[in-house]
Amino acid sequence: MNSNPKLKGQSALVTGASSGIGKAVAIALANEGVNVVVNCSSHPERGQEVVDEIKSSGGTAIVYQADVSKEDEVQAMFAAMYKAFGTIDILVNNAGLQKDSAFVDMTLADWQKVIDVNLTGQFLCAREAAREFLRRGIVAERSVALGKIICMSSVHDMIPWSGHVNYASSKGGVMLFMKSIAQELAPHKIRVNSISPGAIKTRINASEMETQEEIDKILTLIPYNRIGEPEDIGKLAVWLASDDSDYITGATIYIDGGMTLFPGFAGNG
Ligand SMILES: NC(=O)c1ccc[n+]([C@@H]2O[C@H](COP(=O)([O-])OP(=O)(O)OC[C@H]3O[C@@H](n4cnc5c(N)ncnc54)[C@H](OP(=O)(O)O)[C@@H]3O)[C@@H](O)[C@H]2O)c1
Repeated sequence: MNSNPKLKGQSALVTGASSGIGKAVAIALANEGVNVVVNCSSHPERGQEVVDEIKSSGGTAIVYQADVSKEDEVQAMFAAMYKAFGTIDILVNNAGLQKDSAFVDMTLADWQKVIDVNLTGQFLCAREAAREFLRRGIVAERSVALGKIICMSSVHDMIPWSGHVNYASSKGGVMLFMKSIAQELAPHKIRVNSISPGAIKTRINASEMETQEEIDKILTLIPYNRIGEPEDIGKLAVWLASDDSDYITGATIYIDGGMTLFPGFAGNG
């Protein structure tokens, strides 16, 4: 499949692409002819499996193990990407994790870890990508934009989430991080947007969707009445990375089956 011919030959880094949403985004971009760096952290074998899957479909990808919260590892990852593919056109800031607990029991370590990976990781990667976009300049045959940054946020950048205060705080931070750099970088023709998923079935929430009872409880929060699939996000990421969405920057796109529609108020509240 190659429905966005202008994506062909571009290069993308997808952080946290060894699983779930990042994996689906990496595969969707590769299916459009994008050269993909599949970043992973603690499971390089899963990252390699994603690369193998992409290659078996005729795509181009490499795996790179790096912790996005570590500045030296992020810089080494971008250097490896430039060696492999020459430059970067698309950054998908996707890596993320949860470390849940009641607020009063939350340790500083669990607060810090989630902020470091989910928010500081996005800062470190976006800064490197923006530096390269500005150094390289526009390549008109590939894109009308200088570069594209997609931040994986969450419906919890707007819906408060008790028991997950560190996670919701990190995603709330991502929302204004994204909008602030979008404002700063737009004059350079760098587009920055967020994807904010609702409930998507991946490893991050597998323990919350083990029984039909648990799934039914989550479905009460989703007017469209289905749990999302990682591929739903892959399709949106392809569109946001392409020139088809060229006039969109600084936007948060909720992809959530209506979770942010306050379904508790249906039927007169
Ligand atoms: N699933 C949902 O319902 C949902 C909803 C809203 C937002 N999101 C967001 O979507 C993103 C992906 O989540 P997911 O659901 O696909 O979860 P997942 O299946 O658990 O995947 C998380 C990915 O992040 C990587 N990762 C974790 N820590 C990292 C680090 N320090 N450096 C680099 N990579 C790291 C993991 O790699 P390793 O396993 O190799 O460490 C893995 O590839 C997250 O930002 C999450 O907050 C998910």
